[in-house]
Amino acid sequence: MPMSDIPTIEFTITNDNLDTGLRGYPVGTCETSYVDPQEGVSYVGYPIADLAFLPAEDIIHLLFNKSLPTDAERQAVADDIAERSEVSEEALAAISSLPMSGHPMDLFCAAIQILGMTSKTDDYYEDAVNLVARMPTALAAIFRLREGWGDLIPSEPSRGYVNNFVHMLGMPGGDEAALTKLLSVYYNLHADHGGGNLSTFTGRAVASGLADMYRSMASGMNALAGPRHGMANQDAFKMVHEVDTEDPDEAYQILKQRLADGGLIFGFGHAVLRQEDPRAKVQLGVGEELCPDDHWFKVVKAVREGGIRALKENPKVSNPYPNVDLISGSLVNALGFTDPDYYTTLFGWSRISGIGAQIVDERTRARGGRGVAIYRPRYIPINQPARSLSS
Ligand code: MLT
Repeated sequence: MPMSDIPTIEFTITNDNLDTGLRGYPVGTCETSYVDPQEGVSYVGYPIADLAFLPAEDIIHLLFNKSLPTDAERQAVADDIAERSEVSEEALAAISSLPMSGHPMDLFCAAIQILGMTSKTDDYYEDAVNLVARMPTALAAIFRLREGWGDLIPSEPSRGYVNNFVHMLGMPGGDEAALTKLLSVYYNLHADHGGGNLSTFTGRAVASGLADMYRSMASGMNALAGPRHGMANQDAFKMVHEVDTEDPDEAYQILKQRLADGGLIFGFGHAVLRQEDPRAKVQLGVGEELCPDDHWFKVVKAVREGGIRALKENPKVSNPYPNVDLISGSLVNALGFTDPDYYTTLFGWSRISGIGAQIVDERTRARGGRGVAIYRPRYIPINQPARSLSS
């Protein structure tokens, strides 16, 4: 973005802003998406609800090129992904040798670094798009190896981006059409969320030291693996199991007690949003279509109602509404992803396109192509009086 297009902002930093996790500080620019406190996220100006049901190829094009594709451009994205998608035998052997007792997010981050070790080009754009193209193969391998589902299934990229992942996953008993439909929406909803979410910020920060795309992305994904960030979807679904009632009143009582006991309520609230996350609303509609009679989906709906009620009673809670992490677990569970430990890998797979596009923008377009300077904020020293070894 040319500097002249950046709106003028005034921002005063006081002591109250210290140690607040940079909450709300303007630190940079973002061309891919924006999170409005009332409306939620939009990608390049399009509200997320309008984008949710498009092919994932459209979202990838939008994030990297800042426009929705024509039919010809969509085909070009699909062809480009297909051409780049092959994961080498060397990389697959290295992924296969990882300790499968590890958490799926640890395997996911390690797989990103393995892809970097075996195929990096050191061009931010090339590496970002290669990673987008290759991650479905790596993620499907992690599932199959860790779950003991048998040999890896060869990629068939002509199926389309999400359907090829479902095909390579080969989930025993999985409904391929329903899984493709759900994971397409899941992919689109999770692909980007402004520049300030922790994983994107981390990826951009690491890239500012000119670490390559794979190192930067693995760092971002490790950030995503925190329970206050992307791993909240795993913890939210575990919490839903603890509540285990389809009755909103009962859910309200249980969650109220949980809060009174000092417990955390996962899947609600947000650092920026002050209304229900539109991504949660889209997922509710998808659940009504794909799994309306599923017990855990019904429990999530009760938790949604009961949780809003319980959180609204605390005047200190600025946003008592569900975020993206409350409902997603129940949907993927209903379609066969029964182990919540995997949920953040699905989030991470999708977020690679957003973080990748933002790093490309920051390294190759920002400041007239010079790229943003190395991140180096200032920390105020405390409890460090001047001392001397000689006195
Ligand atoms: C996200 O999608 O990254 C989360 O909603 C967290 C955030 O935006 O800070």
